[in-house]
Amino acid sequence: MNWIRVLSEQELPEGERKVVEVEGRLILLIHREGEVYATSSNCPHMGGPLVKGSISPDGAIICPWHHSAFDIRTGDVKEWSPRPPGVGKVLGIISRKKALTVYPTRVEGGSIWVGLEGG
Ligand code: FES
Repeated sequence: MNWIRVLSEQELPEGERKVVEVEGRLILLIHREGEVYATSSNCPHMGGPLVKGSISPDGAIICPWHHSAFDIRTGDVKEWSPRPPGVGKVLGIISRKKALTVYPTRVEGGSIWVGLEGG
């Protein structure tokens, strides 16, 4: 695992989220309930940016485009393109369900680190 420092702790206060570029990948960092999560910043459905998605009480990020929902801890699909009515459902049927990519994180030495495979 290659650990890469992405931000200082102060740059991502509780409740905030931020997109960072790490080795050519856009990664969404989410600081929620004392934990920092890292996911791909683009939705696996049709690539829409997830940064403005809402987060459900059970920790799923809901894509603002067609409302697919993904667990921010595991990336598992909770819902696949359920809305808007008609449009979302059709787009959901013609696209294969894919999990959201998630990355390990750690907070250490006043910094936030993201782990990438390899190295
Ligand atoms: S782009 Fe995210 S649900 Fe369609």
